[in-house]
Amino acid sequence: MIHISSEDSRDIFTLETKSTGYVFQVTKYGHLEHIYYGSKLTHYDLDGLCRKRKVVIGSSIVYHPDDPLYCLDMFPLEWSGIGRGDYRFSPAEIKMPDGSFVSDFIYKNHKIHEGCVPSDKLPTAYKGESGIKTLEILLEDNCTQVELTLFYTVFEESNVISRRVILTNHNPSPLTIRRLMSMCVDLPNQNFRMITFDGGWIKETHRHDHPLRHGMVVNSSTTGGSSNRHNPGFLLASSDSSENQGDVYGFNLIYSGNHIGCAQLSDRQLVRICLGINPHCFEWTLRQGESFETPEAVMTYSASGFNGMSQNFHNFINHHIIRGEWKGKERPVLINNWEAHFFKFNQRKLLRLARRAKKLGVELFVLDDGWFGKRNNDHAGLGDYTVNRKKLPQGLNHFSKRLKKLGLAFGLWFEPEMVNPDSDLFRNHPEYAVTLPGRESTLGRNQLVLDLCNPKVRDYIVTSVSQILDDADISYVKWDMNRHISEAFSPCLENQGEFFHRYILGLYDILTRIFGPRPHILLESCSSGGNRFDLGLLCYSPQIWASDDTDPVERLNIVSGLSYLYPLSTIGAHVSEVPHQQTLRETPLSTRFNVSCFGCLGYEMDLKYLSPVEKKEIKEQIAFYKQHRKTFQYGTFSRIETGKANKVQWQCLYHDKSKAVTGFFQTQSIASEAPDLLRIIGLDPLRRYDIRTKPQRLFIKRFGGLVKHILPIELNPNGLILRLVNRHYALPDCVEHYRVGGDTLEKGIFLNDQFMGSYYNPQTRLLGDFGSNLYVIESEVQQ
Ligand code: DGJ
Repeated sequence: MIHISSEDSRDIFTLETKSTGYVFQVTKYGHLEHIYYGSKLTHYDLDGLCRKRKVVIGSSIVYHPDDPLYCLDMFPLEWSGIGRGDYRFSPAEIKMPDGSFVSDFIYKNHKIHEGCVPSDKLPTAYKGESGIKTLEILLEDNCTQVELTLFYTVFEESNVISRRVILTNHNPSPLTIRRLMSMCVDLPNQNFRMITFDGGWIKETHRHDHPLRHGMVVNSSTTGGSSNRHNPGFLLASSDSSENQGDVYGFNLIYSGNHIGCAQLSDRQLVRICLGINPHCFEWTLRQGESFETPEAVMTYSASGFNGMSQNFHNFINHHIIRGEWKGKERPVLINNWEAHFFKFNQRKLLRLARRAKKLGVELFVLDDGWFGKRNNDHAGLGDYTVNRKKLPQGLNHFSKRLKKLGLAFGLWFEPEMVNPDSDLFRNHPEYAVTLPGRESTLGRNQLVLDLCNPKVRDYIVTSVSQILDDADISYVKWDMNRHISEAFSPCLENQGEFFHRYILGLYDILTRIFGPRPHILLESCSSGGNRFDLGLLCYSPQIWASDDTDPVERLNIVSGLSYLYPLSTIGAHVSEVPHQQTLRETPLSTRFNVSCFGCLGYEMDLKYLSPVEKKEIKEQIAFYKQHRKTFQYGTFSRIETGKANKVQWQCLYHDKSKAVTGFFQTQSIASEAPDLLRIIGLDPLRRYDIRTKPQRLFIKRFGGLVKHILPIELNPNGLILRLVNRHYALPDCVEHYRVGGDTLEKGIFLNDQFMGSYYNPQTRLLGDFGSNLYVIESEVQQ
């Protein structure tokens, strides 16, 4: 809902979602003064909400001689220029047509649109439901005929407001943009912490809290992608906020390139938040009549802590970002052959893996890297998308038919944005690669980046990938991108300051051209894992491979971090072999599944090495996942505070609250630990619920020498007999059953005790290091 009212001839804009309100007004000199962002207000008094200006504050610049109290530095603003008395971080640094950097954008007019106002070249959120409106406000720098249009789109049901801007030059002289943010807002400080999600390869999206002090906290990427270093999404949380209470604001950007987000605390206790394209190496010239549009930024607020904020974003992404045939659709359980084979496979090997996978209940077979050109290791072949006949003698079409016969869908890996110097593509077209004449190129994973600023390169990619997609029955694509950009330069550009943004526009162009006409294909984006996990890519690919780290203990951190910003329906999560290829850690098969089922489940291992009892376990896991898939992928997700450093708990609640599934994970065992509490939130306190652990197995080898306590005879724990027994037999693990109702669920249920040097019995929780359980909570049938 957008209301516009007038007081003393000032326009006041009130944007309302289901539970939030956002208010700003036009000041007497035409600036946009931010007034309020928070819980929806039913009745309010504007004067009470506005900051007062009754005394002259020393060392400030007076905007107009008629009003010595009007100093821009003191205002909470929706936008600010440079050189007119506001010395905070400006959302725009523009070399204006008059040659100066001074800009002052003043209100001209506004209009309201039904629905969203989509962009021509950039992905934006879409309508998807009624009740969406966009407010367009036109500002002008009166001295230079430069216009700035601000867009605010209100997504009522998701409690999200999006913002973006378009800058237009009407002046006969050109202007140069050095920085143009998608949004700017000044919020009153609440002892905020800024929370960012940072990391690197195999350790993406770890949460970091930065208390705001005077000055600025910056969250930025300069790698050419949104990056695994700093995800574009970030939060501001009041000092007393926790998972379920307190004021939390969330911000994110629908963009896959270099981004910057910052929070700057001023001496007036205002926090300026800006978010947009990173000005790093950015420069864009506008001649008369030309415009530049920024990506769309999104913001949300919740008074119910981090979970409330996350649930707003989850809802928004599932309804306004994910589009096409896969929107809201359950995602298939897949097997990916990467960790099983790397580059060493042939059709026989692949089909054997496929047959085994099918028997366990897998629905989609994904052939990863190595199927094309001379791609037998990561030194060669990227760019040459012709099938390697030594590995697949009858080609991809034949292979897809064999899979179909087995009852499996076929998915294929590509890395279309890259080229190996050792490839036919590079030998024939060295000019397609991003290189800088006169400077030696630096490689990443032995490869160069293709110049997506070049339309010929984009055409090549579209044609070569499309041919493969149309040649075989392919219903899933994994789109990889395995290096950052270096020596950024394109001979197609006059101004190299455009490179990084043009690269991303090029990426969106090829994704649209390849997948627009093929909406049945489920696209999973990937960039060495989660190196480009962002809302821009989610507009094309409904799911993203979260990390090359498949160790579930590491994934607890990675997925927890992602879950603040993105729903589980977007997170690819696989069960892999132990010891894990990234950490050498040994984790139980149960935990590998218990973590991966919170997301889009896959298996990435060589199934031929599984024992019969492990196969049984996996078969049951997949059946369980399918039974609860909707709850895992689309239920209401919450992170539950356990009050213990060695525990993580996640919960998914089915939309009608009739059931929930919760995962309780122990990252490290502690001797004689005090009892654990299991808290379930969001269920109906008037109903009674039945809580049971998902049946899982405890493999005897986990006991090592301790087996002597449970065996009537002495056996060598590493000997043949026990190894054989271990292949065929396992013990029931943590069999628990509770029946509770009312407030007990939220207060917490004390779980059975954990193993403390005691004997085995099925009710004792034998978690040890990295143990876990899934609990299914179902409403009791009413008599
Ligand atoms: C990096 C990806 O993240 C992996 O899953 C795998 O696809 C490899 N690339 C293949 O080269």
